[in-house]
Amino acid sequence: MRQYLEIKNEYKDSLLLFRLGDFYETFFDDAKIASEALQITLTQRNGHPMAGIPHHALDNYLKKLLEHGFKVAICEQVEDPSTAKGIVKREVTKIYTPGTVVEENMLDENNRYSLLIYSNNNSFIFIIFDFSTGEIYIDTFEFSDTEILDFISSYPFVQILLSKNLKYLKGKIKNINPDMYIEELDEWYFNKNFEDIIKESYDILNIDVLNLNNNELLALGAVFKYLEITQKQKITHFSFPKRFKNANNMILDSTTIINLGLLPNKENKGKTLYDTLKFTKTSMGARTLQQWISKPLINKNEIEKRLDIVEIFRNDPLIMEELKEYLGSIRDIERISSRISLLRATPRDLVALRFSLGVIPYINELLNALGLETLKEFPELKELLNKAITEEPSTQIGTGRVIKKGFNNELDQYKEIFENSSVFLKEIEKKEKERTGIQNLKVARNKIYGFYIEVTKANINKVPPEYIRKQTLVNSERFITEELRSLEEKYSIAEKKIEELEKKIFNNLIFELQKYVKKLKKLSYNISEIDILRGFAEVSIKNNYIRPIFIDNKFTIKNGRHPVVEQFTNSFTPNSIELDKEKRFVILTGPNMSGKSTYLRQIGIISIMAQIGSYVPADYAELPILKNIFTRIGARDDVVSGKSTFLVEMSEVSSILNNADENSLILLDEVGRGTSTIDGISVAWSTSEYIYQILKSYTIFATHYMELTMLNDFYDGIINKRVKVLETESGIIFLHRIEDGVSDKSYGIEVAKLAGLPTEVVMRAKEVMEEISNKTEFENKLKSMKKIKQKKFSKNQNQLKLF
Ligand SMILES: Nc1ncnc2c1ncn2[C@@H]1O[C@H](COP(=O)(O)OP(=O)(O)OP(=O)(O)O)[C@@H](O)[C@H]1O
Ligand SMILES: [Mg+2]
Repeated sequence: MRQYLEIKNEYKDSLLLFRLGDFYETFFDDAKIASEALQITLTQRNGHPMAGIPHHALDNYLKKLLEHGFKVAICEQVEDPSTAKGIVKREVTKIYTPGTVVEENMLDENNRYSLLIYSNNNSFIFIIFDFSTGEIYIDTFEFSDTEILDFISSYPFVQILLSKNLKYLKGKIKNINPDMYIEELDEWYFNKNFEDIIKESYDILNIDVLNLNNNELLALGAVFKYLEITQKQKITHFSFPKRFKNANNMILDSTTIINLGLLPNKENKGKTLYDTLKFTKTSMGARTLQQWISKPLINKNEIEKRLDIVEIFRNDPLIMEELKEYLGSIRDIERISSRISLLRATPRDLVALRFSLGVIPYINELLNALGLETLKEFPELKELLNKAITEEPSTQIGTGRVIKKGFNNELDQYKEIFENSSVFLKEIEKKEKERTGIQNLKVARNKIYGFYIEVTKANINKVPPEYIRKQTLVNSERFITEELRSLEEKYSIAEKKIEELEKKIFNNLIFELQKYVKKLKKLSYNISEIDILRGFAEVSIKNNYIRPIFIDNKFTIKNGRHPVVEQFTNSFTPNSIELDKEKRFVILTGPNMSGKSTYLRQIGIISIMAQIGSYVPADYAELPILKNIFTRIGARDDVVSGKSTFLVEMSEVSSILNNADENSLILLDEVGRGTSTIDGISVAWSTSEYIYQILKSYTIFATHYMELTMLNDFYDGIINKRVKVLETESGIIFLHRIEDGVSDKSYGIEVAKLAGLPTEVVMRAKEVMEEISNKTEFENKLKSMKKIKQKKFSKNQNQLKLF
């Protein structure tokens, strides 16, 4: 118990699983917590609470504990109990957190991203990493708390690490995501000395090759230090950190990722662009697709290259199907290589790798037939795995059933002793039968008692005196002889040797395989590419998508559809848009529920689809290559960080106005709605003028403010569109059809009726409306709006800051 308490004292923040024989035990409060979380019995040892789990079921229970948000320290016996003097030495060998699991049966196909945020002066360093794949991203942002929280909700993080000075964010994150695993890292984690750990991890001599600033290096050092502490080993499987703000990719802020429903999060699972496009067959493909969606390309050649491949697949549906089959049998090579690098690969992993490598030549045959670049084959690696690992290895290394015969002589010799045993036993059996005259005498071996001769009770009187009794069963007795005893000694030495040797050979093999890790990661990315693009081809046929064309200064979509919404209705109304350098700003009016927001989003989504190399849901699409897309959709409160609806709205608009340019698409949905009508209209008006004149971005602005449609009187390039509805006796019918013009009514009361407001309330609302909607007053207002002068913003005012 003293040993336990000493160790527990070092790992106060973790649930300690303490190895005792065949069990991992928890004690004291840990036991109470574990018994509740795992539904296991709470017992006692020397009057202290205790709860244990069988060692072979560790992964299962571990998974549950992590899901409950615990940090778990595993304490193992680090010397052989049979040879240990006194208490067996024990040490914590691994600490598990939700972001640091790599075991196959504890993972699903999705990325397990962890986020570290480090703040120094007003900037925040963000590092996203997936320990299971070795991907890592880094960047510095000047974010507000709201933006940080948005960022956090736009990715499905499994764990967040905060530098101590960001402690205050913990509660706010818990508010939006109560189950999130959060750890605060003390100041000492962010230490210049840890640059050495970075250098070691990347095997580089000069830290400059990473191209990071000082604060970023401190944050990266903290990540590696944290992993080293929890994993108790050097971490060498990470790729060089990439930047989010990458000159080669479209920049999508987290608001846009959420607003356009691009990637799955807690609320929108199954209803995102990712879900619609996910026709991938490999886990690596599925993960890479998410990365592609969050980082569309902006280089025309690269986009066209992807589209070309999609087209090639589309043109050969048979090969496309065949390829699908093969891809389906490729296993998660990316994570297997991570485990190889971490020395945590299992025999199963190697079999999966061997099998996957075996499929590559078949895939290459198909790629070849299509004239596409083939994947790298690894004949020598495949050969090595073939020679080294048995066909169906045991999950336990050391049983002699992992390493194949012929791979290591010494091991084979010891194994032979066992293999010959059945013949040997038969011989002894025969001899003993003859000698004793007991016909049903049996010679066998089991793990606990070793060799024995079994004689049934009926024949017990024939047993010769030199037989030594070993065990009594219901119907028989088991004996041993001197001959068997010496045989047993030989066997148990062989058994120990086999265990030792096989472990050693397996480890050496893993060391050997580590040479291939980088190349295997490259292979897995190339497989992902093919997997995704093949999927794009399949979905484009299934959902009737077309290949977009890229032309500067054109933004034409004929009969475009919202790829996600159309999945959930069988009567989706397609809509078009036609913009160019002159006509680049749309004011969209229409009743509630008519489809404004859907139209807005669909244009953004189609652009993104096109720029990740996918076909798009339309009859025809001529698109510019956008550098970024900004959205401001719907009013949201941000009670958490103490900002009002309107303030949040305006901060978002402000960030758009400061960042957008002529290569941007801006989607504004009801901006200005969070305040009084007059203020709202005025801000919306000036914002529109500024965007149109200075930023020159493609813009669609959906609004209920009819007044904004008058912008068209001042600026030719600002055009009006409306959504058509049919007014019938029994109410309104939504046609979801967008056409030129200005909507005349809001039909808000009609929608209220549809929503089931009590009839009396609806009737009364109509009365009130009659009273207050004074026609002449509205016309006067329009007249007065005509008096607004055209405002020429000048370019040097570019640094407009609203707040
Ligand atoms: N083109 C379309 N074809 C078929 N159904 C559509 C179409 N567009 C929208 N819808 C359906 O109408 C619903 C309402 O659409 P949407 O939210 O875009 O309306 P809205 O005009 O933005 O309303 P509000 O003014 O209240 O925000 C959607 O959830 C969708 O089911
Ligand atoms: Mg809307």
